[in-house]
Amino acid sequence: MADHVTLFEVGPRDGLQNESRMIPTADKIALTDMLSASGLTRIEAASFVSPKWVPQMADAADVMAGIKRREGVRYAALTPNLRGLEGALAAEADEVAIFVSASEGFSKANINATMAQSLDRLKPVAQAALEAGVLLRGYVSCVTDCPFDGPVPPENVARMAEALMEMGCYEVSLGDTIGHANADSTNRMLDAVLPVVPAAQLAGHFHDTKGTALENIDVSLERGLRTFDAAVGGLGGCPYAPGASGNVATEAVVDHLAQRGFVTGIDPAALAKAGAFARSLVSGG
Ligand code: HMG
Ligand code: MG
Repeated sequence: MADHVTLFEVGPRDGLQNESRMIPTADKIALTDMLSASGLTRIEAASFVSPKWVPQMADAADVMAGIKRREGVRYAALTPNLRGLEGALAAEADEVAIFVSASEGFSKANINATMAQSLDRLKPVAQAALEAGVLLRGYVSCVTDCPFDGPVPPENVARMAEALMEMGCYEVSLGDTIGHANADSTNRMLDAVLPVVPAAQLAGHFHDTKGTALENIDVSLERGLRTFDAAVGGLGGCPYAPGASGNVATEAVVDHLAQRGFVTGIDPAALAKAGAFARSLVSGG
């Protein structure tokens, strides 16, 4: 039987969060509905972060209220603190994602906390999420390179990923936030992480700044990972990661995996429609 790979769509969140033009709520809802119709089963639809930090996500509650929930699709929301969790729970997110960095520079820039402080801050968030019965996902950013600190020690990634698992995450997504990872650095990072978190509970989250995301996905597949984050249309970037460009495009990952004989269950034509719409929403798109 063909090997199945799950794609976790982050376009509506990671893809749009960096856009300077305020995208109408109705368009965000329409994009997520198109993604739901493409066969994707996991979609990060919004983030409940401070609107002072990320103005584009200020309408998260309205987006979550407006989308058509399709059976079999889980809708996730990113949450940095208890306030964000309350918002995500009120919006009936199926899962919430907490996020940390493997480098101090990005941790400070992105969430105004050290790595240790971020873990302390997230413990009660994780506990409350689990008590509320929602699934908990974790992200580690800057798994190979940090825009402020340079190369990141793989041990940092292993330590942060393990801490997220101990908090009750069902999966930890390993983020190449600025798209600087290559096959070597991805392998070295996985050498450190795999002994503490099994491949089945890891996802790869590759931005594609240098065009190496598909190569990094191949390396990760070889190491046993079967879940990858991607953004339709290759949208994205992080407002607090200078130089970060888009996530790897979901369309490119679907095509690449199909060529390699993996099954994703995603309809390329429906996804292409969502991709064209996504690109029309962003500056220069
Ligand atoms: P802070 O300024 O240190 O803390 O921000 P604060 O508690 O003083 O909050 C500032 C203001 O925001 C306050 O308002 C709070 O009430 C409000 P004021 O009193 O000044 O009027 N506030 C909130 N409002 C709504 N919802 C909330 C919330 N929390 C506080 N949840 C904080 C700390 C963590 C809040 C801030 O730094 C923040 O929101 N950061 C998020 C940045 C972000 O979203 N980055 C992008 C996502 S991560 C990413 O893209 C990487 C990833 O894709 C993986 C990868 O690629 O590596 C996941
Ligand atoms: Mg990202």
